[in-house]
Amino acid sequence: MVLAHLGCTVTALERVPALCALLQLAVADLGAEIEIVKAESTDWLAKVSSEKFPDVVYLDPMFSDPGRSQVKKEMQACRALAHETEDEAALLAAARLVAKDRVVVKRHPHNDPIAADVSHSVSSERVRFDVYVKTPQ
Ligand SMILES: C[S@@+](CC[C@H](N)C(=O)[O-])C[C@H]1O[C@@H](n2cnc3c(N)ncnc32)[C@H](O)[C@@H]1O
Repeated sequence: MVLAHLGCTVTALERVPALCALLQLAVADLGAEIEIVKAESTDWLAKVSSEKFPDVVYLDPMFSDPGRSQVKKEMQACRALAHETEDEAALLAAARLVAKDRVVVKRHPHNDPIAADVSHSVSSERVRFDVYVKTPQ
């Protein structure tokens, strides 16, 4: 939502139909220009055509929380519907193939990066963003 309001073209991928519908309602309510696509991200990224390759892929597939943090009721309901991503490595690899500039992965601070070759990270107490900058081929 923030990126869309900053003027970025945003495509959001969500595989759970109920969450996809809720997202569509929220985006319409707020008048944001975000394309919501119901898809398994790894598949969608593998099929996206080269002229539509994004500058940045942001992955927030819901990390497992090794802490004891209590989440709000709404988030508990979302978590019950969503499930964690089964194959994070495949998702990251698919994202790195298409991102023209970088892939950013939201992680729990206690979890290791999905891949070791992180370019840099931005950390706080509750979250860490691992950035994989694309190196020219
Ligand atoms: C933590 S939420 C995203 C929150 C969002 N980034 C935000 O800041 O509001 C994670 C969502 O990703 C979806 N998801 C997880 N793995 C996915 C995948 N491989 N393909 C598509 N959607 C996925 C889950 O169903 C869940 O709704």
